[in-house]
Amino acid sequence: MFVIGSGAKHLEEEISKNAKILKTEIKKFPDGEKYVRILEHGEEVIVVQSTYRPQDEHLIETIIIGDALKEAGFEKLKLVVPYLAYSRQDRVTKEGEPISVRAIMKMLGLYYDELYVFDIHNPKTLDFFPGKAVNIYPAKVIAEYFRDKLENGLVLAPDRGALERAKEVANILGLEYSHFEKERISPTEVKMTPVDVNVKGRNVLIVDDIISTGGTMIRAAEILKDLGAEKVFVVATHGVFAEGAIERVSKAVDELAVTNTIPTKVSKISIVPEIMRSILEVKS
Ligand code: R5P
Repeated sequence: MFVIGSGAKHLEEEISKNAKILKTEIKKFPDGEKYVRILEHGEEVIVVQSTYRPQDEHLIETIIIGDALKEAGFEKLKLVVPYLAYSRQDRVTKEGEPISVRAIMKMLGLYYDELYVFDIHNPKTLDFFPGKAVNIYPAKVIAEYFRDKLENGLVLAPDRGALERAKEVANILGLEYSHFEKERISPTEVKMTPVDVNVKGRNVLIVDDIISTGGTMIRAAEILKDLGAEKVFVVATHGVFAEGAIERVSKAVDELAVTNTIPTKVSKISIVPEIMRSILEVKS
């Protein structure tokens, strides 16, 4: 049985094709606080809740859903978080700062026994969660979306840190993969070059975890076009788009797509099959 939080409403219809959705009542009081009521009983449940904007509201709702489920007698609570807010605040950079993702993990661990997150910024931070915690990279759905567009294709990561993602997607498609290397030319200038691959005349897919301002993807796409790439496609797991970023990136590339961990107008790739595969072990 699944409980769908307000941040995962856009996934409900697809999830309901494969699983039962538990009846709940979730609403907002006139003062802005959330109200949650669980209307059915059982032993084990999977809560799906994405914690994009308004992040704090989605997080608090997740906690009170957990409390309501325990109160209703559920014993095992699994939590699927397509996009985990605060996951980029994973270290202290200035004295006096928190490790926010640790605080969030501990809070979720008060109610939930298992946690499944999609493409978390730093997988090591899953250790802060007290129970079983799994990071899912939706390589299969990303690869399938682009399969027919990548004749003479190549998969690139915008930096070495994202290479694993490029490798996973490329391996599914049987394509070559590599990454951009960044070289600092001056205090304000960084040169980006694709390493050990010839992009001329080829269709290139750039994969990253997040697109925010779009600066990283636009830069990489411009370099590829300058080097003679045929078509440049960009994909990220999470579309945390800053104002105007969708339009700016779309203009610079042949196609922009993100998954639906966050609902946006370019969330063309559904992670629901990955939820079913990873948690319910449904084959597809
Ligand atoms: C960086 O570590 C991330 O993987 C992304 O490359 C970055 O967050 C993208 O940001 P933007 O879209 O603002 O360039």
